[in-house]
Amino acid sequence: MNNRTKFGLLGKDISYSFSRKYFSEKFEKLGLDNLKYLNFDIPEIEEFPFLLYHKEHEYKGINVTIPYKQSVMRYLDEIDEDAKEIGAVNTINITNENKLIGYNTDVYGFQNSIKPLLKEHHKKALILGTGGASKAIAFGLKKLGIEYKFVSRRLSDNVFLYSALNEQILEEYTVIINCSPVGTYPNIEDAPNIPFEFISDKHLLFDLIYNPSETKFLRLGKNNGATIKNGLEMLELQAEKSWEIWNANKKE
Ligand SMILES: NC(=O)c1ccc[n+]([C@@H]2O[C@H](COP(=O)([O-])OP(=O)(O)OC[C@H]3O[C@@H](n4cnc5c(N)ncnc54)[C@H](OP(=O)(O)O)[C@@H]3O)[C@@H](O)[C@H]2O)c1
Repeated sequence: MNNRTKFGLLGKDISYSFSRKYFSEKFEKLGLDNLKYLNFDIPEIEEFPFLLYHKEHEYKGINVTIPYKQSVMRYLDEIDEDAKEIGAVNTINITNENKLIGYNTDVYGFQNSIKPLLKEHHKKALILGTGGASKAIAFGLKKLGIEYKFVSRRLSDNVFLYSALNEQILEEYTVIINCSPVGTYPNIEDAPNIPFEFISDKHLLFDLIYNPSETKFLRLGKNNGATIKNGLEMLELQAEKSWEIWNANKKE
């Protein structure tokens, strides 16, 4: 990584930041006392270029979170093919020539977190929500050979409305991934509006939320025998993949 010693998370209202805590602890564990991980909490994406304004800045890598995963793309010099197809960047590598290269490691985190739980009959998935994260999930499912359909509050192409979900659809779609924020702390008594009575031990319910560790969505699924998983491992795996990208490029 040469003499570059700084990393950061770009986002808005991110004082809680999983990434800062995760990387600060990682640097400490590895004895990398010279490395720092900061939060870039900015109100508008237009402020982003000013963070790297000084040529002598020491930034090597940046993670990107809500709401800038899409809007940051216009400031990058290169974007990895997968990230381009997904339409979102959550990791930026900065080369010695100050080139900014964008990647999406959410998809790596998701694929590797869900893969060990997939069974032969898990052929079709419902993706709840149509926001930024849902695009990386759809891309990951495609790579895993799983057909998918979005579930949304608004009708559009290739989408089910929540009110359309019935026994027949849930028998066919045995993987359900919550990509909406419904059920996140402190609103822990909320759950996506799906007919849980048709969930069985054939189902795999995956929630991108990790706080609380067991959302009402997962709890109701578990009560009916479904396999469940929250979003913590996905978050950790995407962070590790970012770290790998920053290190792989250290000779640049
Ligand atoms: N574990 C991880 O590594 C990881 C990574 C990325 C994101 N996440 C989490 O994933 C969730 C989604 O992130 P995102 O960036 O995609 O968020 P987002 O852009 O805000 O989109 C969430 C989508 O959820 C639906 N939605 C929003 N409010 C809703 C409500 N009150 N009721 C029902 N549906 C609602 C909307 O889809 P419709 O309008 O189509 O209904 C919306 O487009 C967040 O909780 C985020 O923290 C976790």
